Amino acid sequence: MNTMTLDAGHAAPAQPESLEKETVDSQTKVRETVGQPFCDDAKLRMRGVNVFYGEAQAIHEVSLDIGRNEVVAMIGPSGCGKSTFLRCLNRMNDTIDSCRVEGEVTLDDEPIYGPKVDVVPLRARVGMVFQKPNPFPKSIYDNVAYGPKIHGIASRRAELDDIVENSLRRAGLWNEVKERLDKPGTGLSGGQQQRLCIARAIAVSPEVILMDEPCSALDPIATARIEELIDELRENYTIAIVTHSMQQAARVSQRTAYFHLGHLVEVNDTETVFTNPQHELTEAYITGRFG
Ligand SMILES: Nc1ncnc2c1ncn2[C@@H]1O[C@H](COP(=O)(O)OP(=O)(O)OP(=O)(O)O)[C@@H](O)[C@H]1O
Ligand SMILES: [Mg+2]
Repeated sequence: MNTMTLDAGHAAPAQPESLEKETVDSQTKVRETVGQPFCDDAKLRMRGVNVFYGEAQAIHEVSLDIGRNEVVAMIGPSGCGKSTFLRCLNRMNDTIDSCRVEGEVTLDDEPIYGPKVDVVPLRARVGMVFQKPNPFPKSIYDNVAYGPKIHGIASRRAELDDIVENSLRRAGLWNEVKERLDKPGTGLSGGQQQRLCIARAIAVSPEVILMDEPCSALDPIATARIEELIDELRENYTIAIVTHSMQQAARVSQRTAYFHLGHLVEVNDTETVFTNPQHELTEAYITGRFG
């Protein structure tokens, strides 16, 4: 793997002023990712990925597998590249003009970057749930039915009804909304809206779900419900979740990846990361010395 050095000379040109605060000491080196970045049964595989916004490099030589039926949590200080990393996995970075992705990303061993890849079916296979619940200004029913309709998964009303009900059931929302499916999705509570967005994501039968801080706008009860749901969804899906909450990472994930200034510093089984971190930057972050 590549040798990486974090020093004041080249790390994170986008945020030079934060370097001093975030670097434990100026001699700290990130030579290579420590821990277990690879797995035998990888659903998604990333090798030597670099991401740039214009001239500024946001991700440096990241190599990581995300295993089938696994939840991997991405943690690290604000601006370290967690969202950028997540967006590489379904080419959402394509929607940002200045953004350029280099390196290899595969889904079931097929490259997802390449001129022949159609991003619309790719994003149906690799769905995304955002930080702030973003239901469409449509009914609860239509929020969930929209994807299956546009992807041609179902067109007959009875088929759509089944998909809507099943998706809402799997998202743990059916009982709360079954009497008001024709009401606007935006009229639900924040936690319900986020479960609606999860139902919308699973309605197209994705294989992977990317979640970018899905609970940060939710109260503890709604958060607990989503965390239970993530645990249930793992049986059928591969999940990559960005979280600012180390407790959440510890509760929902099997492996945790720690990012620092665009470098993947350490990835290991979650318990090891939180109880016996191998890199001093990880240790500094989890013990609250910075971040
Ligand atoms: N659209 C963009 N245009 C230019 N630079 C960007 C853009 N999005 C992110 N960046 C920069 O890339 C780096 C990584 O940002 P990113 O949003 O991936 O971090 P993050 O770890 O998700 O942070 P947070 O925890 O605050 O959400 C930062 O330096 C950020 O300023
Ligand atoms: Mg982010």
